[in-house]
Amino acid sequence: MDFLDILLKKRQGKKLTKQEMDYFVSGVTNETIPDYQISAFLMAVYFQSLDEEETAYLTTAMANSGELFDLSCVPGFKADKHSTGGVSDTTTLILAPLVASTGVNVVKMSGRGLGFSGGTLDKLEAIPHFSIDVTQQQAIQWAKKSHIVIMGQSKNLTPADQKLYALRDVTATVESLPLIASSIMSKKIAAGADGIVLDVKCGSGAFMKTLEDAQRLGSIMAAMGRHVGKKITVVISSMAQPLGNYIGNSLEVIEAIETLKGNVKGDLLTVSITLGAHMLLLAEKVSSEEEGKALLLKQIENGQGLAKFKELLQQQGGDCNVIEDKTLLPISPCKVCLLAQASGYVQSMDTACIGRASQQTGAGRKQKTDSIDFGAGIILKKRIGHKVEKGEVLAEIYSASLERSQNALAILQNAIVIGKDCPPQPPLLLDIITA
Ligand code: URA
Repeated sequence: MDFLDILLKKRQGKKLTKQEMDYFVSGVTNETIPDYQISAFLMAVYFQSLDEEETAYLTTAMANSGELFDLSCVPGFKADKHSTGGVSDTTTLILAPLVASTGVNVVKMSGRGLGFSGGTLDKLEAIPHFSIDVTQQQAIQWAKKSHIVIMGQSKNLTPADQKLYALRDVTATVESLPLIASSIMSKKIAAGADGIVLDVKCGSGAFMKTLEDAQRLGSIMAAMGRHVGKKITVVISSMAQPLGNYIGNSLEVIEAIETLKGNVKGDLLTVSITLGAHMLLLAEKVSSEEEGKALLLKQIENGQGLAKFKELLQQQGGDCNVIEDKTLLPISPCKVCLLAQASGYVQSMDTACIGRASQQTGAGRKQKTDSIDFGAGIILKKRIGHKVEKGEVLAEIYSASLERSQNALAILQNAIVIGKDCPPQPPLLLDIITA
């Protein structure tokens, strides 16, 4: 096979065979296809797209490009969850212990924050001594014992995706739906769960800006699940404003703990228990979304979700005293406040802008190699529809230096729009797609 023929075929919009897609992925993995030809192929896919079958070939070949995490020796259903990335999107820290406390296994390989969106691994590492470096053998032992493990992705998992993602990033080909779907689904398939709930974020603080795009991405990923025999549910949820009120690593851990204690209601809780309920449905632990939500709320009320979170911390070396004493979590010292410039109601938020302001505090990375200030971030005091008086605090900003806090303030100033009339609440849960 000559890769130039495959490249030409895709450029002309013709359909590729399984053998051709396998040849491409093995050439990427073994580095026998040069970066300039891979890049040209990615651009051809960007413009000509892939149909469902081609996307399934690509996804399967990428999933098989490295080691596969075999969880078959863990008894019972293994449920996973993935978010396409948002701001104050702390659902994993809430739903993973809640779901695991019902006896359903949650063995999750999580990622780090990228751009303005946060990552579960960074949040967990804000907890003193918590370790995300877990071997597969260890993960299996823990899953059998506690039903919960949250770990970093092994370097040998989906090497083809690692290579392709890095090239997409520098060739303006990230925003291709079949490429996004195959990137996410190949990792999820390789991570070994039986069923996956995908939280596709939609709105100003998400990859997918419109509901139509979010639905198209969700449908492609649900179809991939059908092709590879995994149970998939896609929940499309809004990023019209940050999901919770705390943005930043330590800060989001605090909000997650307070939610597990039953002290926080609102959008973060609603999305967490909706996603969790769908994990329970895939595991056939419950027979309806409502039953699943009621069970998870009960696990908050009876303290079992919080107890499972404590077990997770103990198991992975984290200081579980943070649950009772939040001063053990780092909070950066330089605080400045964003004040309302007028009285009225919060009309809208530019969530990506809020995410970038948080990144500016040091809570996120600008480049993959940057280190993180776990104590940095933003606490929002108002949400869309809230009444505000001129001079009232809209947000608190925390960082290691006054300069960083001021830079974040400058970005945040344009992110929250205040107007005269009370706006309608933006819908939170936009669609659910089952495979
Ligand atoms: N997340 C991924 O893992 N891959 C993409 O392409 C986009 C989001």
